[in-house]
Formats: sequence, C-alpha cells, structure tokens
Amino acid sequence: MKHVETTTRPSEATPELPSVDVTLKVNGDSCRLRFDSRVTLLDALRDHLGLTGAKKGCDQGACGACTVLVDGKRIVSCLALAAQYDGREITTVEGLGDDGEPHPMQAAFARHDAFQCGYCTPGQIMSAVCLQAEGRAGTEEDIREYMSGNICRCGAYPNICAAIREVVAEDNDASL
Ligand code: FES
Ligand code: FES
Repeated sequence: MKHVETTTRPSEATPELPSVDVTLKVNGDSCRLRFDSRVTLLDALRDHLGLTGAKKGCDQGACGACTVLVDGKRIVSCLALAAQYDGREITTVEGLGDDGEPHPMQAAFARHDAFQCGYCTPGQIMSAVCLQAEGRAGTEEDIREYMSGNICRCGAYPNICAAIREVVAEDNDASL
C-alpha cells in the first residue's frame, strides 16, 4: 500500500478543515492519503493519484465526464467527497482492459469513431460498461435514455450508441 501525505490548498479566505486519512482502492491498488475533508473524489484521483482519465467538465454533476465506478456502480466523481469512499472499490478508465488489451467497450468506441475531441470519452466508456452490466442496454432508446447523463459536446451520440449496441450484441451472442 502506498502512503501519500498531501493537503489541498484552500484559499486564504477559506478556513481550513481538519485533514482526513483515507484509503482509496483504485484499479486494484490501495493508497493511503491524507487530505482536506472537502477534496472531491475526482480531485483525489486526478491531483493526488495522477489518474487523469476521469475528466472535469462542469464540476457540478451535469456532464458525466468524471464518471467512475464504485463497487461496480457509476457515479459522478465531481460530486463525491473522497473521504466517503474509504475502502470502496473504485475503477477508473485506466483500470479497464487486461494485460495491455483494451476493454471491448474501448475497442468498440475506437472502431466506431465514437468520439471527436475525446474529452467526454472516458466518462462515456465507464457509463457504457456499467450500463451493459446493468443489462439495460436492450434497445437504442434504452441506451440513449440510460446514457443521457453523459453529455458529448461534439455530438458523437450516433457512434457512441453504435459502439454500445455492438458490444451488447456480441456479448449476447457469446452467451447463447
Ligand atoms: S465534471 Fe462531473 S458531472 Fe461534469
Ligand atoms: S467527443 Fe468531444 S465532447 Fe464528446
């Protein structure tokens, strides 16, 4: 387990709150951190652990760019306080795939050109992986509905849908 002593820098006008000790389990690794109790999970991942896959878009829960999985469920990490996730299993886009091979959802996004600038893509992929696991990606309408928390300012939605549909169809075929 890594031990990292670190604190955030509240502005001079902001009173300091007590530091908290948190063990974050991310992508199979545990790391002991100490930081200001107001640090969000997104900032802890990006600024303290160097995992910059999850992106900061709106920083207020509206775009989905910061989506990560906690115990297999998707959350927007910009609205989550890191201190609340002590010991939970966190997965970021960096943790997908095996032995250097991309996760099938990552490969499908690449095949279908399901991105332009790519800023929303890690969040889209994490959300899509979770949607597939939830078994709620039955139709294109379902996919659009359950992916509606992930905004793509480049408008790559048709390609994102196509990528998800392909992975779900392949998975269904494999289980027949
Ligand atoms: S950055 Fe978290 S939802 Fe937009
Ligand atoms: S690919 Fe640019 S925001 Fe989605």
